[in-house]
Amino acid sequence: TIDVDRTRTGAQIDDSMYGVFYEDINRAADGGLYAELVQNRSFEYSTADHKDYTPLTSWKASGTADVKDDAGRLHTRNRNYLALGAGASVTNSGYNTGIAVQKGKRYDFSLWARAEQPAALTATLQDATGSLAQARRVTARGGWAKYTATFTAARTSTTGRLTVAAERPAALDMISLFPRDTYKGRANGLRKDLAEKIEALNPGFLRFPGGCLVNTGSHEAYDAQSNWQRKRSYQWKDTVGPVEQRATNANFWGYNQSYGLGYYEYFQFAEDIGAMPLPVVPALVTGCGQNQATDDPALLKRHIQDTLDLIEFANGPVTSAWGKKRAQMGHPEPFGLTHLGVGNEENLPDEFFARFKEFRAAIEAKYPDITVVSNSGPDDTGSTFDRLWQLNRDAKVDMVDEHYYNSPQWFLENNDRYDSYDRSGPKVFLGEYASLDNKFSNALAEAAYMTGLERNADVVKLASYAPLLANKDYVQWKPDMIWFDNARSWGSASYETQKLFMRNTGDQVVPSKASTTPATSGPITGAVGLSTWATSAAYDDVRVTAADGTSLLTDDFTDGDSQWTRAAGRGSWAVQDGAFVQSDETAENTLVTAGDKAWQNYDLKVKATKKSG
Ligand code: AHR
Repeated sequence: TIDVDRTRTGAQIDDSMYGVFYEDINRAADGGLYAELVQNRSFEYSTADHKDYTPLTSWKASGTADVKDDAGRLHTRNRNYLALGAGASVTNSGYNTGIAVQKGKRYDFSLWARAEQPAALTATLQDATGSLAQARRVTARGGWAKYTATFTAARTSTTGRLTVAAERPAALDMISLFPRDTYKGRANGLRKDLAEKIEALNPGFLRFPGGCLVNTGSHEAYDAQSNWQRKRSYQWKDTVGPVEQRATNANFWGYNQSYGLGYYEYFQFAEDIGAMPLPVVPALVTGCGQNQATDDPALLKRHIQDTLDLIEFANGPVTSAWGKKRAQMGHPEPFGLTHLGVGNEENLPDEFFARFKEFRAAIEAKYPDITVVSNSGPDDTGSTFDRLWQLNRDAKVDMVDEHYYNSPQWFLENNDRYDSYDRSGPKVFLGEYASLDNKFSNALAEAAYMTGLERNADVVKLASYAPLLANKDYVQWKPDMIWFDNARSWGSASYETQKLFMRNTGDQVVPSKASTTPATSGPITGAVGLSTWATSAAYDDVRVTAADGTSLLTDDFTDGDSQWTRAAGRGSWAVQDGAFVQSDETAENTLVTAGDKAWQNYDLKVKATKKSG
C-alpha cells in the first residue's frame, strides 16, 4: 500500500543530481574510452609504470629497432623514440586480443618521423588470416615531422596488428591509429560505443579524472631532467596541448597513462553529453594508503595557482593566458565550470583540511561563484570520517564528497542514511558508491537506496555510482558500470538502474509511505526474479519452494559458508525453459537470462527458520 501525503511537498530534485564518476582505472582511458588503437605509441612504457614493462611492450621488432632516450628526441616531454634500421620493422599488438577494425570503416594512421636520407615507411594492417587493408606508404625526410595516411578496412577483425617498416634508417615516434568514426567525429577522440553508452545515461555531471589517481604519487611538477619516469599525482597541465608534447605518467592502478585523453578532452566530453564538468585536483596530501602530507609552502602555492589557472582554462576569455590555450586547442567558448573538488578520500583530516582551506580561500577570492567541494575521507565509518565532517561543518564548506562501497544488504538497511543529516550543514556529493557485485540484486539494492537519496535531495545534491568503466582484460576494481573489450561493450545491471534514474529524474519528491505485510506465499505477478534476504546471524536456513512442492532453493546457513554478503545472489532465480533455475553466482546478471520464454506467474513459498532462542 502506498499512502501519498498531498498536504506536504518534499525536496526539489535538481536535474543534475545523478551523474557519472569517470576514473582512469581498469584501463578506462588508453585501451578504453580514448579511441587510440596503438598501445605504447610513444615507446614510453617503463618499469615505473609496471614491473614487466619495457619501452617495447606491445611491440615486436624485426631487424634493428632501438629505443633511444637522447637529445634527438621529438620533444622534451616525450623522452623516447625508436631508431629503425634499414629494412627493419615494428609491429603493434594493440589492446586485448589486438587492433579491432570493421569492414568498410576508415582508420587514420599517423606517425612522427625524422630521417637524414629520404626513407620510405610502409604501414600495413593484418591479422593471422592476412591483410586487413591496403598498405600505405609515406616518405620521411629531414627533421621531425608528422606523416599521415588512411586505411579502409577490407574485413572485420578483432586481432589486427599494425606494422611499420622502414626502407632506410629513420627515427619514429607517436605511431598512432584512430578510427575515423570517433564519438561526434572528433580528432584525438573517444571510442564511439563507450561514449554513447555514457551519453545514453543522460548524466547531470561528469566527475573526473579520479579517484585515487588524483592524489597519489609525487606532487612535484614534471621535470625532464630528473623525474620524468616518476609517478606523479594527476596534474592537469601535464594533460593539455599537442598530444606529442604530453608527458606520459605512471598510473596509480599499475599501468602507463598517455594523457592523450586529458583535461581538454574531458571538458569537451562533458559538454558533448550535456553534463556539468566536475574536476578534482590534488590537495597535496597523498591518499589511498600512501598517507603523507607534503609540507612545502612553495609547492602548495604552485598547486593553488595551477587550480586558479584551471578555472581560467575552463572559463577565462580568449584574451586570458589559459583561455587562449583553450581556444588554440579548438574551443574559444568557455566550458562553464561551476564546481571543483579539492582532494579525494583524505586519510589525514587535519593536514588535508589546513591545505583545503588555502585552496578554498584563493578560489573564493578570485572566483566567488565556484563551488569548492571537500570530502569526508575514505569511508563512512571511523575517526577520519567523523573528524573531517566536523572540520567541514565548522568551516561551513559548501559541499562534501562521500564515498562508500558496501554489501547490497547495507544499502537496503541504510535507506534512511540522509534523513537525519543537518539541513543547514554542507550539502552532500555522493561521489562514489556501489553495492559489491554486478548482479541484478545489487542493481535492485542500489535502486532502493537511490529512493532514499531522492527523498533527501535537499541535502544530497549530486550522486554517482563508481567506477564507471572496466576493460574486461585489465581489471583492478569490481564491480563496474560499463564493461568492454577491444570491440564490444555492455552495461551491468547497475548501469540499467543508473539509466533508469538519470533519464527519469523527478522535479519534486512527493511524501509517501509504503507498507506491506511480508507474504510467506502467494503469486509474484510480473516478477523477473526473486531475491531472498536473511542473515546467518538470525536464521538457520532459508527455503523457497514452488506451489507443487518442488524445492527451488535451500540455503543452509549452518553449513559454514554463510558469508551472506558474498552470497547475496544465492537467492536470485531465473526462469529458463519454463522452469526455475538457480542463478550462477559467478555469472553476471543471470537473472535476465530467461531465453525467449515469457515471464510467468509462479506461486512460491519462502520460509526462513529462525535461530532457536
Ligand atoms: O572507484 C575506485 C576507487 O575507490 C577510487 O579511486 C577511490 O576514490 C576509491 O577508493
